Amino acid sequence: NTAADTAHKRVLLAKPRGYCAGVDRAVDTVERVLDKYGPPVYVRKEIVHNQHVVGNLRERGVVFVEDTEEVPEGSLLVFSAHGVSPAVREAAERRNLRTIDATCPLVTKVHKEVNRFARQDYDILLIGHEGHEEVEGTSGEAPERVQLVDKPEDVDDVEVRDPSKVVWLSQTTLSVDETMERVEQLQQRFPDLQAPPSDDICYATSNRQVAVKAMAAECDLVLVVGSQNSSNSKRLVEVALQSGAGAAHLIDYASDIDENWLDGVRTVGVTSGASVPDVLVFQVLDRLREYGWEDVEEVTTANEKVSFALPRELRKDLDENP
Ligand code: F3S
Repeated sequence: NTAADTAHKRVLLAKPRGYCAGVDRAVDTVERVLDKYGPPVYVRKEIVHNQHVVGNLRERGVVFVEDTEEVPEGSLLVFSAHGVSPAVREAAERRNLRTIDATCPLVTKVHKEVNRFARQDYDILLIGHEGHEEVEGTSGEAPERVQLVDKPEDVDDVEVRDPSKVVWLSQTTLSVDETMERVEQLQQRFPDLQAPPSDDICYATSNRQVAVKAMAAECDLVLVVGSQNSSNSKRLVEVALQSGAGAAHLIDYASDIDENWLDGVRTVGVTSGASVPDVLVFQVLDRLREYGWEDVEEVTTANEKVSFALPRELRKDLDENP
């Protein structure tokens, strides 16, 4: 690389990016449980959807299970940040498991909304991605009242009992713009459709989308650090492309960067999903520096100050038996 080459190369680094308050709390919960009780610690599903985080915890003695049936009777089980349905809680109780619930409080909020509207006998149209753990947990609060709306064509399949008693709710990690499109479609069919009492898409998801939007048009390439099963990370790739980025890729690690992606590129945008520790982003910046991108400029669209206390059952344990 000549000096002239490097002068043109710059990195725009999105802020906010990375860890949200719910992920921070969930990972902290598992680490504290490990410190206090020692391994093995059982966690139902990946605590957060990030390969690096899950791999690290596994090395320290966390056993990730798909189902409560895999956990030995009487052991301690942590529920992941994405939440669980009442059926899962009951199954854990039947197995006599001690549970610590790391469900993000903003997911719990949606569970409560589902319960409230179900009690008032509404039909609930839950906008979300089929098969995602969060949606399984949320709809499990009132399976007979909730219908999932994922793709545009799902809107036509919805059937409600009383069109004047319909509400839409959503998964916390969707694309804000796409969700509003789906809502407009639903409104065409149900003019009396009610909206959630407050935003279901969480602050972290929407802030990360706003941040990537602010820089995408200037970027020839956007690298989103995040895992394939991370909903909010995948949405960041889509939002970057829709907002004018030349290309965008989801990568777990710096080593996933394909040199060919950098051909003819001047400005690289970097951001990360809500389950991604910043160390992975710094490794990406290091790698880019090796390729000649030395100039890094942070683009800030919001300052986040949200944090959540540890789960009550864990706090109680830590207080009583320090
Ligand atoms: Fe919670 Fe939103 Fe993070 S729902 S886990 S704060 S992405």
